[in-house]
Amino acid sequence: MAGITIKDVSKNYGGKSEGAALSGLNLEIRDNTFVTLLGPSGCGKTTTLRLIAGYLVPDTGSVHVGSRLVSSPDNVVPPERRGMGMVFQNYAVWPHKTVFENVVFGLRIRKVPMEQARAQVEKALALVNLTGLGNRLPSELSGGQQQRVALARSLVVEPEILLLDEPLSNLDAKLREKMRSELKQLQRRTGITFVYVTHDQAEALALSDQIAVMHGGLLQQFGTPHEVYAKPANRIVADFMGLVNLLPGRVQVLAGKQGLVVTPGGMNLELDVPDGTKLGDEVEVAIRPEDVTLRAAAQGTAGNGTIRELTFLGNIIEYFVTLGSGEELRVQAHPSQHFETGQRVAIAIDAAHCNVFPRAVPARLAA
Ligand SMILES: Nc1ncnc2c1ncn2[C@@H]1O[C@H](COP(=O)(O)OP(=O)(O)O)[C@@H](O)[C@H]1O
Ligand SMILES: [Mg+2]
Repeated sequence: MAGITIKDVSKNYGGKSEGAALSGLNLEIRDNTFVTLLGPSGCGKTTTLRLIAGYLVPDTGSVHVGSRLVSSPDNVVPPERRGMGMVFQNYAVWPHKTVFENVVFGLRIRKVPMEQARAQVEKALALVNLTGLGNRLPSELSGGQQQRVALARSLVVEPEILLLDEPLSNLDAKLREKMRSELKQLQRRTGITFVYVTHDQAEALALSDQIAVMHGGLLQQFGTPHEVYAKPANRIVADFMGLVNLLPGRVQVLAGKQGLVVTPGGMNLELDVPDGTKLGDEVEVAIRPEDVTLRAAAQGTAGNGTIRELTFLGNIIEYFVTLGSGEELRVQAHPSQHFETGQRVAIAIDAAHCNVFPRAVPARLAA
């Protein structure tokens, strides 16, 4: 098996002034891990995958598989000689061929003898839980089973690396979740290095050993699911990895890494501030909805927020709380904790789980 080293890779499709699809990407994907490229549409995920696969030539930089150089601006090893399999969103199984015929295709091209090919197809079908369905036509299979045929087709050639581009996005929610856990098990069982592309952060969190969060052709952070969720490198990552409130504040007291940040509404938050923060700096505090606790404020006393809206979601109730300063805070509470619209509430924030970022100054205000 093999890991992948991506060094300083850039790709510009030659479009006008829009900038590169991918800029200076550095990524070390370890052997036998499940790595996800995560980010919004257009951020460069598919471009990265196609560069790894050998379908695109990088403008700069290099891609290594293990110690073998497979891509550089003047030499690209063709896709079929990289020991990689690829699975796409529109899984494109041939409708008039049986499951067996679909899966055996890659082996036919490689002129593998029929006896051996049969054994390899059996093995691949077993890996994706399709044993015994080799004679079916795709139309006789469910959507999830068809997607598994596509998986088996890429597994049958026994790749060291499997590249998957949003493979579950055509499936309904229930099936997606089931396939999610099957994919994870498949990676564990085979030891194949998986590079998985999605724009769905829940999927990325559930599946990955490590997540590369991308935005605007740039890698924003590479870390474990826990790291990118709990310790986002910047506000782009914080915002993309689940729900977050971004409250403005000013650093009023500073002692080493510890700062006291005061919000316009007068909330005092003791927080770890980023390196280089100075007294008086304007910052943004990223607060997850689950890190806020509400308490009923006694009648007549000044609570520090008012419930504007609530949504019952079964396992949680989501509250939108208007602060005295006019900002709004999204809060998730256990359904046993019930407040009414218009009710005054006191707000407690678990500052240990919050993150502080320098406040972005709007361009027109910057000197
Ligand atoms: N073949 C292409 N020609 C020109 N521009 C492209 C091409 N493919 C992708 N792009 C552009 O490159 C950027 C990154 O695209 P892509 O890697 O497909 O993003 P993602 O997979 O994250 O949605 C986008 O701005 C997209 O419009
Ligand atoms: Mg894409």
